[in-house]
Amino acid sequence: MLGTKVLGREDIQAIVRRLASEIEADLAGRSPIFIGVLKGCVYFLTDLTRLLRQPVEVDFIQVSSYGASTTTSGSVVLVKDITADVRGRDIYLVEDIVDTGTTLKDVIRLLEARHPRSIQVVALLSKPSRRQVEVEVAFLGTEIDDVFVVGYGLDHAESYRNLPDIHELVLETAGGEAPQTVAAGSR
Ligand code: IMP
Repeated sequence: MLGTKVLGREDIQAIVRRLASEIEADLAGRSPIFIGVLKGCVYFLTDLTRLLRQPVEVDFIQVSSYGASTTTSGSVVLVKDITADVRGRDIYLVEDIVDTGTTLKDVIRLLEARHPRSIQVVALLSKPSRRQVEVEVAFLGTEIDDVFVVGYGLDHAESYRNLPDIHELVLETAGGEAPQTVAAGSR
């Protein structure tokens, strides 16, 4: 069941505009490629890159948690690789939300092995209280509390991605607690 609205579409639009102008100021002299971490990044990446006034390249990577774990684990399996050669390129790695940080850490390690010139993380949301591994987010939309959220690309069991606003998800249990874990492969 959908709970409190955490960010409305106007809030999201304002955040994306701010991030686009911050990134635009950073683009000069770079060879930029925007790599989105599927699937949660899709709405964010398309809105963000359309606000940039210079041509940029876009690619996608998809990973899933290793094994059948229902929590995000320390190692990920590559489901879909990028097609671009990123050697010497400036990567803007676009993620919907940074939770424990393990996904980004593993994706960054994977991409670093291809010798890009730089990798900077662009994340719409971050839950700092959940962090288990340190990940530097160069461009951050906003921090949120430790609640499970859906909408604007964020899912629960592949549902709710297409909601224009971001809501807290409330489990329909007796306690009414928000889920703290993510189903494997639901990214
Ligand atoms: P991490 O590896 O723990 O940082 O998890 C990052 C991934 O978990 C994100 O890309 C999302 O796919 C998923 N995730 C974490 N928190 C949420 C949430 O509140 N809603 C939806 N997905 C989430």
